[in-house]
Amino acid sequence: MTVAYACSKVILFGEHAVVYGQPAIAVPVPQVRATATVEDAASGEGVTIAARDLDVIHRLGNPVPDDEAHPLELTVRNTFERIGVSERQDLLVEVASTIPIARGMGSGAAVATAIVRALSAHFGARLTASEVSELVYKTEMVHHGTPSGIDNSVIAFEKPVYFIKGEAPQTFEVGRLFCLVVADTGVSSSTREIVADVRESWRADPECYDSLFADVGSVVMAARASIASGDTAEAGRLMNVNQALLEEIGVSSPEIEALVGAARQAGALGAKLSGAGRGGNVIALITSAVRQRVVSALRSAGAACVITTDVK
Ligand code: PMV
Repeated sequence: MTVAYACSKVILFGEHAVVYGQPAIAVPVPQVRATATVEDAASGEGVTIAARDLDVIHRLGNPVPDDEAHPLELTVRNTFERIGVSERQDLLVEVASTIPIARGMGSGAAVATAIVRALSAHFGARLTASEVSELVYKTEMVHHGTPSGIDNSVIAFEKPVYFIKGEAPQTFEVGRLFCLVVADTGVSSSTREIVADVRESWRADPECYDSLFADVGSVVMAARASIASGDTAEAGRLMNVNQALLEEIGVSSPEIEALVGAARQAGALGAKLSGAGRGGNVIALITSAVRQRVVSALRSAGAACVITTDVK
């Protein structure tokens, strides 16, 4: 039996603008993760993929076009093809995850990453992080339509990444450890729909949206410098600037703003939505001195779940 894991992630800066070629920064969140287990099945059983938490039991049948395939099946097929192993196997692939679904924490990319890692290890194939990331990107296209590729990159590399669509992700040094609080609004967020809505707004007023995206890009570049030099106060301030731009882009929501306000009032250095928005998670940058205060404030303001994670 072979077991593999994949962490979750949050986008620190630059969501949405990243789809239009601006840079973004994402960091891994190891506190919640996906697990994939591969074991041999009885002869003649074929390949079964089971996600018991979701009541999914799927048998690998005849190939269907990528956009009609179940994302789990597509991941398994693409991995077999990549490592040069025939699909005619008797295998049970089980997946499980503690990552909240549809909350901007990359649950789909993490499950796919765990499957790619477990299957390749089971057959003794060694894939680099970038090869894993490329395979997972193909699954992301089924989930999201036009993903920038940031989720598969940060999860496959398991390091903070500075990401520009179409380029190899750059991992970078964090000058001084900082702490993030991740708070769930309790509202599901459909990345595919929200990205499509933003595209419609961009089409209706390209000049305005291009300028908003360029402003986000400048914030991301400044944020990278402040994180690298250990200036967490400046990084927090830039988070607030990024949140204001996301509000203008039209992807914030009352639930997000309630949590952002509560975190700032309790002493966070900065707070913003993370991921596609209109729900999902809010992140707050904090010093350890205010950790408890910010966590309690977020709970009182209605956060469905609160996680803290150190970024180093
Ligand atoms: O909701 P998430 O975490 O999958 O993030 C979406 C990030 C976007 O920039 C909105 C879309 C993308 O593909 O980068």
